[in-house]
Amino acid sequence: MAVHPVRQAPDPVLSTKTKRVTKIDAKIKNLIEDMFDTMDAEHGVGLAANQIGVPLRIAVIAIPATEEDPEERYVLINPEFVKKGGERIIGEGCLSVAGYRGMIKRSEWVKVKALNAEGKAIRLKAEGLLAQALEHEIDHLDGLLYVDRLKEQGALETLQKIEAPEPVEA
Ligand code: CO
Repeated sequence: MAVHPVRQAPDPVLSTKTKRVTKIDAKIKNLIEDMFDTMDAEHGVGLAANQIGVPLRIAVIAIPATEEDPEERYVLINPEFVKKGGERIIGEGCLSVAGYRGMIKRSEWVKVKALNAEGKAIRLKAEGLLAQALEHEIDHLDGLLYVDRLKEQGALETLQKIEAPEPVEA
């Protein structure tokens, strides 16, 4: 178990498309533990393996508890979108672009397939923060930062410097 430094843009590992995991062995399980440790230390809602310098297709997500629901934690190995739909504009930040936030266009809902930490095939249907985190992390695994999406969307002018870290970064 270890907390790793989070790579900051423009570190090339962040713009590298990650490789699919072919075998979930002890090394991968240790990596997943380190990803949770790092995400928790940085108070993130998600983290992709390349954010700690490992170009493999693995992401972790932790959706904070609400009054009604306990915290939800996810391990996603080789995640892919099955479908997505709708559109909304929401605030977003990234642990690898520290000190900034922007207003991004994201889907309203997504369906994702992946393997869990035990190698079992899982499917998630998500909306709200989980859908946003899934889009953000899968972008990371494809070598894309939310700032690249803002550029694509012509919304770079929404990027703002923030004083203190926001609670929702991934
Ligand atoms: Co991020």
